[in-house]
Amino acid sequence: MKKMQNTLLKWYEIFGRHELPWRNTNDIYHIYLSEIMLQQTQVNRVRDEYYPQFLEKFPTLKALADAPLDEVLASWSGLGYYSRARNLHKTAILSKDGLPDCPKALEKLPGIGQYTASAICSFGYHQNIPVVDTNIARVMKRYFALETSTNDLIWKKADEFLNHKDSRDHNLALMDLGSLICLPKNPKCDICPLQEVCLGKDEPEIYTKTKKKEYENLELFYGVLIQNNQIALTPSTGKMYKKMLELPIVDPIDENFLGSFKHSYTKYRLTVNLYKLDSFDGDIVWTHLDKLDTSPVSSLTKKAKKFFN
Ligand code: ADE
Repeated sequence: MKKMQNTLLKWYEIFGRHELPWRNTNDIYHIYLSEIMLQQTQVNRVRDEYYPQFLEKFPTLKALADAPLDEVLASWSGLGYYSRARNLHKTAILSKDGLPDCPKALEKLPGIGQYTASAICSFGYHQNIPVVDTNIARVMKRYFALETSTNDLIWKKADEFLNHKDSRDHNLALMDLGSLICLPKNPKCDICPLQEVCLGKDEPEIYTKTKKKEYENLELFYGVLIQNNQIALTPSTGKMYKKMLELPIVDPIDENFLGSFKHSYTKYRLTVNLYKLDSFDGDIVWTHLDKLDTSPVSSLTKKAKKFFN
């Protein structure tokens, strides 16, 4: 085990993604923010766009707690899964003295699960504990040939394999091994540092059988009402975009059809139909067209822009 742990660390030294900004800070809030953003968004998008922009706007947990929710949602615009932003804001309000340094206490905060709590404690507080995300889980399943595995068993195996001398780098190394080498499909076993002892290397794909994703097709109908370069938006009442602004929902109509486009959001495959309106009976928030990009609206609403002329 020790030999493999050392081999893994050596591999990490050479091939690890050391340059990621959240790996080069001890600021717990920055590390926490990165973990929330990385939950459902690709590393490169978080690193290049959202993480630096969000931190420029909300540099501290206190700045985030003091900000109105709609500003936080506006900064999250485009990232999707907006409950992450709402929970981030709630957690900031609940943690004015800083984030707790114990996984169980962190897990009591909105939006923080077992993985995120352990990641904060390992990467931020340098605690000697295992971390398991989907990448590390796949490595563990293959390395220990766990064909049928529970969450508890995977965490137990990660704990067994933990390198207590350098647990932070060990966890980061496993994460990188999972995303660079031990891929779900066509893993690169021939260049894997753990190949010598990996019990799953002969049939790596039997450990990653996943349920086929089920998509739901939905058709949406929105009205476009523009006056003096301002567009009528309404507070969203639906579950998907709660507390954000969206185009007014209309009944399917035949007149004044502007066009339609496809949009994917979480498990939904949406067909969005747009209609030109002359008036709208309901709560309206007039938003200047130039301000749309910095308002709390979803990518769907931004995508509709090309039909506005
Ligand atoms: N480094 C630390 N946490 C990470 C994550 N969730 N994804 C990618 N790199 C990370």
